[in-house]
Amino acid sequence: MQEPSLFSPASCCCLFSLLALLATSHLMMSVKTMDIIDLTCEKCSQESPVFNYTFCLASLQAVPVSHFTNIKGLGVISMELALLNASTTISSIEKMLRNGSLDPFQLGCLRDCLELYSDASRTLVDAAGAFIVGQYGVASMRVSAAMEAATTCEDGFEERGEICPLRKENYDLFQLGDIALCILRLLSLSIPS
Ligand SMILES: *[C@@H]1O[C@H](CO)[C@@H](O)[C@H](O)[C@H]1NC(C)=O
Ligand SMILES: *[C@@H]1O[C@H](CO)[C@@H](O)[C@H](O)[C@H]1NC(C)=O
Ligand SMILES: *[C@@H]1O[C@H](CO)[C@@H](O)[C@H](O)[C@H]1NC(C)=O
Repeated sequence: MQEPSLFSPASCCCLFSLLALLATSHLMMSVKTMDIIDLTCEKCSQESPVFNYTFCLASLQAVPVSHFTNIKGLGVISMELALLNASTTISSIEKMLRNGSLDPFQLGCLRDCLELYSDASRTLVDAAGAFIVGQYGVASMRVSAAMEAATTCEDGFEERGEICPLRKENYDLFQLGDIALCILRLLSLSIPS
């Protein structure tokens, strides 16, 4: 009996089916991973009344790699976004502090917020480190601390009924932290400890 050559109709057919299989599984995979952003944001918004589904979707979808990742990858991305937010906010506070047109109260609040945000960015680096080695409990504590920095910064202004010039920044950091916290909860649930 003759061995089928590489180019025999039989092996061509095999090769074609293999390619077709690869193509469809790739397609299925990208559909699945695109859905993971939606699924995650949806699930998290059901768990918490303050969780912003629109914000979650927009933040994660803006990062190209998040379309091709799993829930753990989304966790890392949410922490990186939070860290990036905190760093950008630190630069804007420094810029505001150089502006002479602020009253002493506002200057005081901004200085407090600068310290809070500097701590928060260090805490978020620690959180990401703990997350990567699977210490989800430690990571959650660190993320919560960073979210508290945003709340404390906001409260400093509200005490005197002033509008915080960092309202959006505080909101964004809180929401990004809430995404990370929710993902940490979902991961802890799926890994019995
Ligand atoms: C939720 O996030 C979106 C997008 O960032 C924002 O436009 C909207 O105001 C937020 N919703 C609430 C209730 O803050
Ligand atoms: C913070 O993150 C949100 C969502 O990713 C983004 O829309 C916003 O521009 C960021 N803000 C800063 C100050 O980096
Ligand atoms: C200083 O703050 C005022 C009021 O917030 C603003 O209109 C002005 O553009 C700022 N100047 C600089 C140099 O940032």
